[in-house]
Amino acid sequence: MIEYTGLKDWTFADANTREYTHIYHDYPARMIPQIPSSIIEILNIKEGSLLFDPYCGSGSTLVEGVRKGLNVIGTDINPLAQLISTAKTDYLTKIEDLENEINKFISFTMVPKGNPKIIDWNNLNFWFKENAINRIGLIMRYISNIKDAKIKNFFKVAASETIRESSNTRKSEFKLYRYAPDKLIKHNPDPFSTMNKKLSRNLKGYREFHAYMAGKDLMPDAKIKLFNTVNQLPPSIAKKNSVDIVITSPPYGDSHTTVAYGQYSKLSSMWLGIYKEDVDKLSMGGVRKKELEKFDCESLDKAISEVFSKNNKRGIEVSAFYSDLQKSIENVSKLIKNNGYSCYVVANRIVAGVKLPTDDAIRCFYQECGFTHFDTFTRVIPNKRMPLRNSPSNKTGITEETMSKEYIVIMKKN
Ligand SMILES: C[S@@+](CC[C@H](N)C(=O)[O-])C[C@H]1O[C@@H](n2cnc3c(N)ncnc32)[C@H](O)[C@@H]1O
Repeated sequence: MIEYTGLKDWTFADANTREYTHIYHDYPARMIPQIPSSIIEILNIKEGSLLFDPYCGSGSTLVEGVRKGLNVIGTDINPLAQLISTAKTDYLTKIEDLENEINKFISFTMVPKGNPKIIDWNNLNFWFKENAINRIGLIMRYISNIKDAKIKNFFKVAASETIRESSNTRKSEFKLYRYAPDKLIKHNPDPFSTMNKKLSRNLKGYREFHAYMAGKDLMPDAKIKLFNTVNQLPPSIAKKNSVDIVITSPPYGDSHTTVAYGQYSKLSSMWLGIYKEDVDKLSMGGVRKKELEKFDCESLDKAISEVFSKNNKRGIEVSAFYSDLQKSIENVSKLIKNNGYSCYVVANRIVAGVKLPTDDAIRCFYQECGFTHFDTFTRVIPNKRMPLRNSPSNKTGITEETMSKEYIVIMKKN
């Protein structure tokens, strides 16, 4: 029996969410590290246990798992997520090796040698100015010559944010919107100085993580795979009944109307040679369907038919998302041990004026897979950044506050 009390303030309004390698890279709808960390503590998950995050994104849960001495597995359909998570969970690179490479890079930026490694892409000049293209190309040339795979990943992650910030896309949005002409004229990014700043900021985070892990006896393992969890997971990713705990935050909805992770990742993925065109299509609910589905989950079925009665197309889109989520849960649930836990951090968005009960949906879907409801914690979101607002009417400029609370739904396998 675990000693457990559900009483806890999950807001973490003043918490530092950018400690350790969490500083490396921004990502839409990032989970704050305090959530997985507290769940692992409350549920008393022991060192050496196996944690799985099926939609790992930038790896916040995985880093916290590693910090707690758990072996971790992450999957995502976005190659950029895989790169960031892989880099963030590394704690074995020698600090001196990383420092030496960074110093070498700084010298290189003073007297750059070699040809810029420029990508062949029709839209390159639309998204980047000439000077940015040349300098990013030189950074890519430098990175291509780094031998150590982990140090190379560290550099690629810093380059990814550098590329986005040196591009012509507006910084305040996750989607790609080019600066208006008057802003574009004044926009003169310097990829070298941005990259140098990112490297030194991330090195500080790596130092903290490395030092923290050096104090542990265990050397936890991290495995991050590119995989669509709507499909059955092969044993090479995780064996059936092997996972002690799942902690994750799935997408809020389909990529057309919520966060388009593929679009967010496009510019840097193109430069890094990892771009996959179908990320947003593969994202849950990404493939358009013709009909509504029934889910045997009363509140969900009721909400979807209400959306459908107001707007057929939106109803079908919403139904397609939950259909994929249900399939993904069926697959994930098989990997969890008896008495193991599954914890989903979700928010209930509003579509066509109807609140969609994703927390209930998770509960129903897991119950169908032989789990019982352990608890649901409510978290008031203190930060008002996207995706708190969306455009429920799908009209530009008309936004509605849809999510100010998150639910941490905890299910237990019988
Ligand atoms: C809310 S984000 C996760 C954020 C993550 N917790 C973090 O802190 O960065 C959801 C992730 O689910 C991924 N995703 C969407 N559909 C997926 C699927 N079918 N299988 C695996 N990953 C998927 C997206 O690419 C995205 O990275």
